[in-house]
Amino acid sequence: MPERLRVLRTVPAFRRSIMAWRAGHANVALVPTMGALHAGHLALVRAAERRAQRTIVSIFVNPAQFAPEEDLARYPRTFDADVAVLRELGVDLVWAPPVEVMYPPGFSTKVVPSGPALVGLEDRLRPHFFSGVATVVAKLLIQCAPDFAMFGEKDYQQLKVVSRMAADLNLPTRIIAVPTVREKDGLALSSRNAYLSAEERAVASTLYRVLKACAERIANGELIARVIDEGGNAIENAGFMLDYLEARHADSLQPVASLDEGPVRLLVAARLGKTRLIDNLGA
Ligand code: PAF
Repeated sequence: MPERLRVLRTVPAFRRSIMAWRAGHANVALVPTMGALHAGHLALVRAAERRAQRTIVSIFVNPAQFAPEEDLARYPRTFDADVAVLRELGVDLVWAPPVEVMYPPGFSTKVVPSGPALVGLEDRLRPHFFSGVATVVAKLLIQCAPDFAMFGEKDYQQLKVVSRMAADLNLPTRIIAVPTVREKDGLALSSRNAYLSAEERAVASTLYRVLKACAERIANGELIARVIDEGGNAIENAGFMLDYLEARHADSLQPVASLDEGPVRLLVAARLGKTRLIDNLGA
């Protein structure tokens, strides 16, 4: 009989569970989420289950990564449905701390990342974001010291920031990158896709199509600057407000002008109506 999925909400109870697993020599993987789980998250869970004997999914909508003008209250919350899916998948533990457990009164410590967190991509448009992410991810990794923590490539800059932070702070966790899961038409799965109207959904996959076309042209030796310029126009012509379309070094996220400068990653962010979408692809 498999053990029942446990939902824990206090740090001491969480730590006791993990210590019991460790005493039995089990290794542990963590999948950090903000809930509203979709197939992209489930791919992270399956990747965690392949690597570790015990899998934890954290569900915490992190106020520290939302700016005042970004609507924290509007973020989709589907806790009961999330737990039901995770139970089906055989997850061992859901870590769902209330805000006052994660950020108790008087909380005054922040992790402020630089390096890949300060390269003029998401950080230019959402300056508060990576400090909020780094702080909560550092806390999650310290709370449970997992052997592995799974992050989707969909949030590519986040993946790089978290990997850098875990290395810099000597956290004993291997950060594992999991490839983006896409709809049939190429749209990257995201909790924010739920905000798209039917008309917006019909054009949303333009982002992926443009990324793919740009990646092919760059691989065929065309000039990166021209390809990016034309790709940006194609995205705007489809009805998006473009925040950025950029070719960057796949590790440092610094700008690159040619494939000779290292592995290249194309990164895009654009708004369709009220919904902001991001995506990326290797070139
Ligand atoms: O990618 C997310 O869902 C969040 O940024 C994360 C990593 C769970 C931190 O709140």
